[in-house]
Amino acid sequence: MRMYDIILKKRKGIELTKEEIEFFVKGFTKGEIPDYQASALLMAIFFNKMNKRETADLTMAMVDSGDRINLSSINGIKVDKHSTGGVGDKTSICLTPLVASLGVPVAKMSGRGLGHTGGTIDKLEAFEGFSVELSEEDFINNANNIGIALTGQTGNIAPADKKLYALRDVTGTVDNMSLIASSIMSKKIASGADAIVLDVKVGDGAFMKTPEDAKLLAKEMVDIGTSVGRKTIGVISDMDQPLGYAIGNSLEVKEAIELLKGNGPKDLLELTLTLGSYMLVCSNTAKTFEEGKELLMKNIENGKGLEKLKDFVKAQGGDTSFIDDTNKLPKAKFIEEVRAKESGYIKKIHAEAFGLIAMELGAGRETKESNIDLAVGIVLNKKRDEKVQEGDVLAYIHSNDRNNIERAREKILKNIEIVKEPIEKLPLIYDVVQ
Ligand code: URA
Repeated sequence: MRMYDIILKKRKGIELTKEEIEFFVKGFTKGEIPDYQASALLMAIFFNKMNKRETADLTMAMVDSGDRINLSSINGIKVDKHSTGGVGDKTSICLTPLVASLGVPVAKMSGRGLGHTGGTIDKLEAFEGFSVELSEEDFINNANNIGIALTGQTGNIAPADKKLYALRDVTGTVDNMSLIASSIMSKKIASGADAIVLDVKVGDGAFMKTPEDAKLLAKEMVDIGTSVGRKTIGVISDMDQPLGYAIGNSLEVKEAIELLKGNGPKDLLELTLTLGSYMLVCSNTAKTFEEGKELLMKNIENGKGLEKLKDFVKAQGGDTSFIDDTNKLPKAKFIEEVRAKESGYIKKIHAEAFGLIAMELGAGRETKESNIDLAVGIVLNKKRDEKVQEGDVLAYIHSNDRNNIERAREKILKNIEIVKEPIEKLPLIYDVVQ
């Protein structure tokens, strides 16, 4: 078999066989197929697409390129949750302890943020002492003893995806449905959960810009998961504006804690209850979606979700007094208001732009090597559809550098669109694919 023939075949739009896909993935992972040939094939896939069978074969070839985590020594049905990436998305921080407080074991691998999207691992480091590097033994023991464990991505989960993603990032081939679906699902399948609930984001701040494309991506991933015996559900949710009010690591942690104390923003609460309820249904903890929502709400009201967050943070070395007193979380030196220059209704809060502004304040990474400032970011004071008067506070800038405040203010004002007429409300949850 020759890589040249595989590239040519895909360039002509012909379906690749399982053997050809495996030949490519194995050869590329071992370094036997050079980047330039892999790039050419990625571009041919980008333009000529892959069908469902090819996408499933690509996914499994990437799973087989590395180790699979064996979670069988954790009791119960393990349900993983994954978001395709968004701005202000702190859902995992409140959702996972809440679900664990109802007896669903959570053994989760999370990533760090890159570019305009944040990562759960970075956010959790806002708790002083919190460690995301657990040995396999501690990971399993914590999941069994307290019901929740979270670790960073280990070295050898789907190494083919790691290499391919880096290449896609620099060759303009990230936003292809089959490549995204196989990339996400290869990591989820190798991570060993019995069931997977996917939060597929749609809108300005997401890979998928339309609900139709997000649905196709969700369907592709659900089909892959189901074909390998993992119950998989895809929830399509809005990312046309940031989720909740806070963007930036410790600001988001604070908002997630507030949710567990019963004071969460409406959209974050609705998404948490929706994803959580499907996780409960997948693990047979709730019979119906409605029952799941009720159980979750009850554990917010009685404080059991918050208690589970404390158990989790303590077990991973973090300081739980930060949960009782969120003022102890890293705080920025300067907090500056951004005021509206006109009256009207907020039509759009450009999610991607807000992710980038927070990154420029120091909350995110421009490259994998960048350090992040846990304290900084933006807290919105208004959300889409709200009425504003000239002079109202639209947002607060949290910064440790006086020099970057004016630039952030200008960009915030540019990226909040205010119109004269009330606007049509967009849904938070567009669809559910199962
Ligand atoms: N997240 C991933 O892990 N892979 C993609 O291709 C896109 C988002």
